[in-house]
Amino acid sequence: MEQYDFGIVGLGVMGRNLLLNMADHHFAVAGLDLDEQKAQALEKEADETHKVKSTTSAEEFVGLIKKPRAIMLLVPAGKPVDSAIHSLLPFLEKGDIIIDGGNSYFPDTNRRIEELDAQGIHFFGMGISGGEKGARFGPSMMPGGNKDAYERLRPIFEAVAAKVNGEPCVEYLGSGSAGNYVKMVHNGIEYGIMQMISEVYDLLKRGFGVSDEKLQQLFTEWNQSELQSFLVEITGIVLNKIDDETGERLVNLISDQAKAKGTGKWTSQNAMDLQAPIPVIDAAVVMRDLSKYKEERVEASKHYASLNTPSASGADDSLFEAAKHALFFAMIATYAQGLSQLTLASKEYNYGLNLEQVAKIWRGGCIIRAAVLEDFRKAFERNAELPNLLLDEEIGKLMTDRVQSIRTFVKTAIDKGIPVPAISAALGYFDAYRSERLPTNLVQSQRDYFGAHTYERTDKQGTFHTNWD
Ligand code: 6PG
Repeated sequence: MEQYDFGIVGLGVMGRNLLLNMADHHFAVAGLDLDEQKAQALEKEADETHKVKSTTSAEEFVGLIKKPRAIMLLVPAGKPVDSAIHSLLPFLEKGDIIIDGGNSYFPDTNRRIEELDAQGIHFFGMGISGGEKGARFGPSMMPGGNKDAYERLRPIFEAVAAKVNGEPCVEYLGSGSAGNYVKMVHNGIEYGIMQMISEVYDLLKRGFGVSDEKLQQLFTEWNQSELQSFLVEITGIVLNKIDDETGERLVNLISDQAKAKGTGKWTSQNAMDLQAPIPVIDAAVVMRDLSKYKEERVEASKHYASLNTPSASGADDSLFEAAKHALFFAMIATYAQGLSQLTLASKEYNYGLNLEQVAKIWRGGCIIRAAVLEDFRKAFERNAELPNLLLDEEIGKLMTDRVQSIRTFVKTAIDKGIPVPAISAALGYFDAYRSERLPTNLVQSQRDYFGAHTYERTDKQGTFHTNWD
């Protein structure tokens, strides 16, 4: 007994893949799943070099793991996490560690930390990104919790994480729910970039009649440029996929009503609580919501049929260049928004985040991995206190060089009646952020007019109220 280095609860595809990844790196890993078939599937998938064992008994499982025990839960967020914890608790001892590897809502993690701390058990919330393949061959991992307890986990996590230039895409991020929070914002950025890619696709396809072949070629080429990133790469692959049944491009057969599990919404909701402006992510959440109103949209499209601009030709290399630069500009603005939200959250919740490390572990393994993350890492290396990426000189140059392109892109979309709310939010954010003076003086005046809410002046100290009539 007590011969296994690590335990995983939940042997669905993610759990099994991560477990086998650990076993590839010569760690002995035990798995627990109440479903006998899943438990058996693990042992079938493992080969003779793997030291793995699965069981359906929580008591046996806990007994197999070396002390202090390190046990990761890979079960759906919400109630299943609490149930898994409660099934293990009777057998755990002080100093043992539970890691929640799902997309849990960060306040739930804070609650669990507190509850388990009272029993001497360390609880970690850890975002894991990279999907099924990532779990099997190298995810990006975002752990938060007790710093000392992390040392028990470090060698295993560093071995299995994705590597960029030999550096593992995992770092202890901070206390409390820091890991879940960082993963939540990762997902918000993921929503933003996916929406913006779909806007580029829409303007070119619907607005200019660019063929699917050409679109696929563009995304494939762009992935060899400054835009190099997982999401641009898979867009090229997705656009190329032919449906076996019909022989048509599969993407054209897929319903346009998007689903969401909630992490993007939580990012926007919490950003509003923190007064962290993240308009690109907000627009992405809104567009998934709007996509659901299919019947109303169909009706409205008939209602406003006269406004439909027939898809035209006229796409040329200069349009493709503008689209490419607009996307890069907007991607940077999206990361800037998400990362500045992390700065504010770190202060508010005392996470102690280091954004250079966040940028570092997002360079590989995760869904938002992109070549430009290395530029962001360097920006935070130059200035660890940087409140916003847009204030870094090098990043600023990338934006200034492309601002005309994004203006052209947005103007073209507006003229065509193609919605580009996320890309235009990126531009609007940039233009607002670089404005020394915004028109909010007028908002303050109006508030004072109708509600006597008072205002501050630029020419003298104090709080003022005016009788405006
Ligand atoms: C990842 C993904 C992963 C999941 C998203 C999907 O980093 O590997 O973000 O966590 O695919 O949560 O989210 P939606 O279902 O909300 O699009």
